[in-house]
Amino acid sequence: MNISDQSGGAEPPLKRRRRPRYSGTHPKTYAQKYKEHNIAAYPDIAPHLRAKGKTPVGTHIPVLTEEVLACLRPAPGEVVVDCTVGYGGHAAEFIKCVCPTGKLIALDVDSAELERTRRRLSNAGVPVSFYRSNFAGIANVLNKEKLDGYDVIFADLGVSSMQIDNPARGMSYKNEGPLDMRMDDRLKKTGADLLNTLPEEDLSRAFSELADEPDHQKIAHWIVNQRAVQPITATSQLVRLIFAVKGLTEKTWRRRQVASKFGSLHPAARTFQALRILVNDEIGSLKELLRVAPYCLRPGGRIGIISFHSGEDRLVKQSFRDGVRNGTYQSAARNVIVPRIKEITSNPRSASAKFRWAVI
Ligand SMILES: C[S@@+](CC[C@H](N)C(=O)[O-])C[C@H]1O[C@@H](n2cnc3c(N)ncnc32)[C@H](O)[C@@H]1O
Repeated sequence: MNISDQSGGAEPPLKRRRRPRYSGTHPKTYAQKYKEHNIAAYPDIAPHLRAKGKTPVGTHIPVLTEEVLACLRPAPGEVVVDCTVGYGGHAAEFIKCVCPTGKLIALDVDSAELERTRRRLSNAGVPVSFYRSNFAGIANVLNKEKLDGYDVIFADLGVSSMQIDNPARGMSYKNEGPLDMRMDDRLKKTGADLLNTLPEEDLSRAFSELADEPDHQKIAHWIVNQRAVQPITATSQLVRLIFAVKGLTEKTWRRRQVASKFGSLHPAARTFQALRILVNDEIGSLKELLRVAPYCLRPGGRIGIISFHSGEDRLVKQSFRDGVRNGTYQSAARNVIVPRIKEITSNPRSASAKFRWAVI
């Protein structure tokens, strides 16, 4: 799909709807948060939640924005490809920098979010082309755009807050939902499909390599035993199984949370992360992006990648270092760039972000 859009005209403000029925004074579930789903009609809600370090559902807060702009230096007239446009937070900043004669090319595999972002960025002031495409295909997009190269390639890996917060996507251990986990609904296999069919050794390796899960063997073994009795299809089933493997209950885990000074990782966080990475072949796509990127950059072009776990960061670091050593890149970030405490406090979801850049 190429939903190339070069028109003006802002998204019409949404109408306020009747409050859905729920008990108590505050909405609790994703579906009940009617104001957050319609922040255009309730402008006070976003600053209110942001002040508490929360992300309103249906939105995403871009991370390391200042650092990304300072290192990638998008300039008027340049062509920027945002490989993971998501909510469009970074894209909106790139647009301001390349105005009025530049161009933004926006990619994402998630058709629902891409369409919303297209509407949100439709009065951009520069041409913006949207592609529902895996970023592994940036070279094809370049051909479709009839361009000789990009000045800036940017990717903000992983999932958006909109995807993680929506129970129907099945990506979060916090929400009850189907174990879907696909960012791209054209993919044939969901998280449940993989969990219920992959051999024990493959599951164990994935939990270890993609998320450093210390109990990877035990979790894989229990999954295989459990699925012989009943398929695992819901997020809550997987969470319960992991608690059992680790000898925890909700109560003992909460107590541990309270006792820990910095809060500890949820017992199911690593397994969920590994399964999501597997479902979406996130490592395969990143490897391909890193391979083709040098051929897609104009002389002097810059590439920047934000990753959220050590396996991905290692690949980016290695690729940029090798590129500098073999003369593909002129220079690359010496040290990884991470969010400052101030950013982590205002947006805890930024805590594990790691940014690296290179110049061709
Ligand atoms: C962390 S979010 C990006 C947020 C964005 N920078 C913003 O400011 O709103 C990651 C996005 O990348 C998309 N994505 C993940 N892997 C992708 C891939 N291989 N190709 C294209 N899009 C991908 C996801 O669907 C998600 O929307």
